[in-house]
Amino acid sequence: VGAAAARVLTVAGGLPLLRGAEASAEPLGLPAGLVGPLIATPATGTVWPGRSTALLTFGGTYPGPTLRARRGDVFQLRLENRLAEPTNVHWHGLAVPAEADGYPTDLVQPGAARQYAFQIGERAGTYWYHPHPDRRTGAQVYGGMAGFLIVEDEDERALGLPGGEQDVALLLQDRRRSADGSLRYAPTPMDLMAGYLGDAALVNGTPDAELRVAATLHRLRLLNGSNARVFRVAFEDGRRFQVIAGDGGLLESPVAASELFLGPGERVELLVDLSRDPIGGSVRLASLPFSAGGMGPGMGMGGGASQGAAFSLLRLLVERPGPPGVRLPDRLAPFERLDPSRAEVRRRLVMEMRMPPFAGAFTINGRSFEAGRVDLRVERGALEVWEIVNASNEPHPFHVHATQFQVVRRSTGALGAHELGPKDTVLVWPGETVQIVLRFERHAGLYVLHCHNLEHEDAGMMLNLEVV
Ligand code: C2O
Ligand code: CU
Ligand code: CU
Repeated sequence: VGAAAARVLTVAGGLPLLRGAEASAEPLGLPAGLVGPLIATPATGTVWPGRSTALLTFGGTYPGPTLRARRGDVFQLRLENRLAEPTNVHWHGLAVPAEADGYPTDLVQPGAARQYAFQIGERAGTYWYHPHPDRRTGAQVYGGMAGFLIVEDEDERALGLPGGEQDVALLLQDRRRSADGSLRYAPTPMDLMAGYLGDAALVNGTPDAELRVAATLHRLRLLNGSNARVFRVAFEDGRRFQVIAGDGGLLESPVAASELFLGPGERVELLVDLSRDPIGGSVRLASLPFSAGGMGPGMGMGGGASQGAAFSLLRLLVERPGPPGVRLPDRLAPFERLDPSRAEVRRRLVMEMRMPPFAGAFTINGRSFEAGRVDLRVERGALEVWEIVNASNEPHPFHVHATQFQVVRRSTGALGAHELGPKDTVLVWPGETVQIVLRFERHAGLYVLHCHNLEHEDAGMMLNLEVV
């Protein structure tokens, strides 16, 4: 695997889009907030126009309700499980006590309920929640169980970033179209290799999504909630945007970019200026094609469009004049820089997968997940540097619970703009090594680290991490 540019295909002429019939655009659904307990329940909804789809949901909707909290809040939420199978909730990106973290075997049985409670110590940012049951995370997330958890704080408020209708949370996911409209989840052994890839991109559960907006500055919070799909996010007209936050909240200052890779589990917040767009005009948010290493586009072994296929994500239709431009702040929010040269502990984590897939084929340091076995023991407060090595032909979004880390370097090129702040998930390309620096400070207990390709995770690419 060569430089980062090697995985980018050259696109001659216009952007090839898998879909994008403007005439059939669907209004984008924007998930409402939560009133009352969070109920895990089957539901019927409309994903594909004109057809009804059986879903697995939080709160009866896909996506689940958007939860909002302020830094310092004590967050309390009762989960009721009305599904036919056990489930739980993981608060992705938050450091919560181990008993509230959604450990894979810490489950709420059908008909049962439990209370989650923890204090939110995180910086303002775009976090999310999803189920985390052992071997069933992929199926439940694919069925519709995922939602935003947005944390706000005073530092962020003082910046006067675009708010209200100009602050839009977008859950990006791919799904497989089916003749009967169902979200069928049945990965074959070959699907496990790349992960369960779809052939259509949904934004907040909507294919061919369109959002009517004002001609002004917008804050877009993008969450890649796909099981396995990596998006190469860009605007179709190539316009630049300002990246203001990654997984763990605001960067120190905005960074201009025109595209970035977003792997499953990752978030990015960007500011896009629509103030000079004509009323009636539109711009499309898309995922550009790329070569993911290993198999080339169109060479996918399983179903769905191959990793690296192009997608249209969302059409922003500028339909009305906007409020006069918000001034873009040149400083955002500081965070403590971790210095890798002062690390007390160094570790190497090698992610591997074997062909054909079999039990135990998906490993980190040669091990597949086994509940309760301690694989890494870390001391609270110790500064650690980890080398994450991808010794396989597929990209792996590496994710760790219970803390945010900082990306030090990638062996194949520069960091993306959204990788310049605190993160909890980082994409590791085939053959690549990514170095991160981290410290576990908040809670002791048993947590996990894993690949956030949910098929890989469910197949065992996950280890236990005990914080002591
Ligand atoms: Cu978003 Cu352990 O997962
Ligand atoms: Cu997580
Ligand atoms: Cu993986």
